[in-house]
Amino acid sequence: MTQKIAILPGDGIGPEITAQAVRLLDKLIAQGLDAEYEYAPLGGAAYDQYGSPYPEATQTLCRAADAVLLGAVGGPQYDTLPRPVRPERGLLAIRKDLNLFANLRPAVLFPELADASTLKPEVVAGLDILIVRELTGDIYFGEPRGIRTLDNGEREGFNTMRYRESEIRRIAKVSFEAAQRRNKKLCSVDKANVLETTELWKEIFTEVSKDYPDVELSHMYVDNAAMQLVRAPKQFDVIATGNIFGDILSDQASMLTGSIGMLPSASLDENGKGLYEPSHGSAPDIAGQNKANPLATVLSLAMLLRYSLKDEARAAQVENAVQKVLQQGFRTADIAEAGAKVLSCSQMGDALLDAL
Ligand code: IPM
Ligand code: MG
Repeated sequence: MTQKIAILPGDGIGPEITAQAVRLLDKLIAQGLDAEYEYAPLGGAAYDQYGSPYPEATQTLCRAADAVLLGAVGGPQYDTLPRPVRPERGLLAIRKDLNLFANLRPAVLFPELADASTLKPEVVAGLDILIVRELTGDIYFGEPRGIRTLDNGEREGFNTMRYRESEIRRIAKVSFEAAQRRNKKLCSVDKANVLETTELWKEIFTEVSKDYPDVELSHMYVDNAAMQLVRAPKQFDVIATGNIFGDILSDQASMLTGSIGMLPSASLDENGKGLYEPSHGSAPDIAGQNKANPLATVLSLAMLLRYSLKDEARAAQVENAVQKVLQQGFRTADIAEAGAKVLSCSQMGDALLDAL
């Protein structure tokens, strides 16, 4: 059956970078991939068109799709909008609506880019970590939340950190299964010395570990994990953590590779349907200048092929194309060392098409 892909270019550099991934997708379809795609707006672009960051047209398309490819959302022109219609809300809404609870964020150092990291090469050489971030619970979605005025007239902001057993158990399973496919080491990150929510998290992970005797489970407090990530990041294989800790640690891990422009991500539901997006943001400062790095989006397309379309061969084909252009010395400005061949966004797309 023809697989349906929804393409959401989003804001800022989103349209430029997704355009390059779509060129590759077109070529794969021409070569026999049984898929079709359709566009819809998300974030600021959707607000401009429909007055909502996740409008019904987008919702309908994404619900019916087998997979979603997203560029990025957000921009300074939207920062003063009322909170419920800001671009970020569109992203949170689509995650929740499609039940995309498992966020996979690999942090892999490409050997060709070993010098891009701010850390010493020996600390990061060969780095290959996977962060599994729970994406639809925690303080991000916990109720009650808000800003209220107290009896004495002072205002108070409040949010609620919450996790149900069932939510923890399903992300634990995804984490253990990911570790089984890798080096069989799983580090669950919590703050169980202070927060009851994560005490329960730790307990459930320990319980679920009995079903995965081949995976070595360890536990680490989040503050220590942040420190260990820069001290000795190669001690980690898979890191599993909640929504807010995962938000922070995944940004930190991405910078170990020195090139956030290279990192894809997948957000999956229980059935392998997923939303795929680069780990970086919409970079409004360079939007429309054709100099953004499309490689994280292209690698997100590879993850889409692997996890949702179950097409390992074509996923590898796309990843090999990325490897090849890097070996050829092609760089976009963000990852260019002195003397490198600096390409524009669309020229990188040309090089990738050749390599594919
Ligand atoms: C991310 C982003 C989002 C998040 C924002 C844009 C809502 O930082 O995907 O990591 O906090 O989840
Ligand atoms: Mg983030």
